[in-house]
Amino acid sequence: MKIEEWESILKKRLSDKRYAHTLRVREEAIRLAGRWGADEKKAELAALLHDFCRNLSVEESDELVREYGLDKKYLGNVSLAHSQIAARLLPREYGVEDPEILSAVSHHTTGGLNMTVLDKIIYLADTIEPGRRYPGVDELREMAYNDLDKACLSALDRSIRFVRSKGERMDNSALAWKMAEVIDSKKGREIAVIDVSEISGFADYLIVTHAPSERLMKTIADELEDKMAELGVILERSEGKNGSGWILLDFGDIIVNVFTPEQREKYNLEKLWGDGHTQWFHSENK
Ligand SMILES: [Fe+2]
Ligand SMILES: [Fe+2]
Repeated sequence: MKIEEWESILKKRLSDKRYAHTLRVREEAIRLAGRWGADEKKAELAALLHDFCRNLSVEESDELVREYGLDKKYLGNVSLAHSQIAARLLPREYGVEDPEILSAVSHHTTGGLNMTVLDKIIYLADTIEPGRRYPGVDELREMAYNDLDKACLSALDRSIRFVRSKGERMDNSALAWKMAEVIDSKKGREIAVIDVSEISGFADYLIVTHAPSERLMKTIADELEDKMAELGVILERSEGKNGSGWILLDFGDIIVNVFTPEQREKYNLEKLWGDGHTQWFHSENK
């Protein structure tokens, strides 16, 4: 199959966000392959296919886990199962036979024993693609181009610590509320916490606030990023150029929108997401 055909299949299978991530992983993987003398064409295809099954529903994922006879630890856990499912579904349904590509796809989530250079490249490209933002990502990016093994170990170590800490982390509702507190501490106005878990495919909570100036908006955004990093919650992406009057902070399940008053009124997200359950944050000291 041609790359363009894969692209159009992926566009249909993946959410916009996941597709954009996939394209950035491709870009990074080709660069890493060039650096480490791996086959760039294989790196490109493995990168494109790595999250092929990431947007399956839990039901679809569980069905394939059973069909392929995978361990029951994969049941109910698409984020763990998707690489294993893809490595089996791609040869069966899409004729992808190249063992190097299938190995890279199957190893990209947790790594594994005796990883090949291509496995390592895809694992790292997924972790450091240009859209990733978390404490230490720049060091990891540099390391990936200086010492591939060291970078892999460091990324694995980080991910083990991340998973361990997850058990102790707050649930999304508590976390959304914590974010509202942080926003309030930097004088964000009229903080709305909207539960969109039932009506949106991309997040559990939207938080909307505004501040009187771009400078104060930036202060709120920076404070949120720092305070969340301390809790091990990673800012996956932020958008909003200077002067646009809107900063969007994507923490995965929670998306924070900081506006100027004018832009807030214009976009009126609270109305747009009016089907969600909206709660207003009131601090005692206001
Ligand atoms: Fe993945
Ligand atoms: Fe990925």
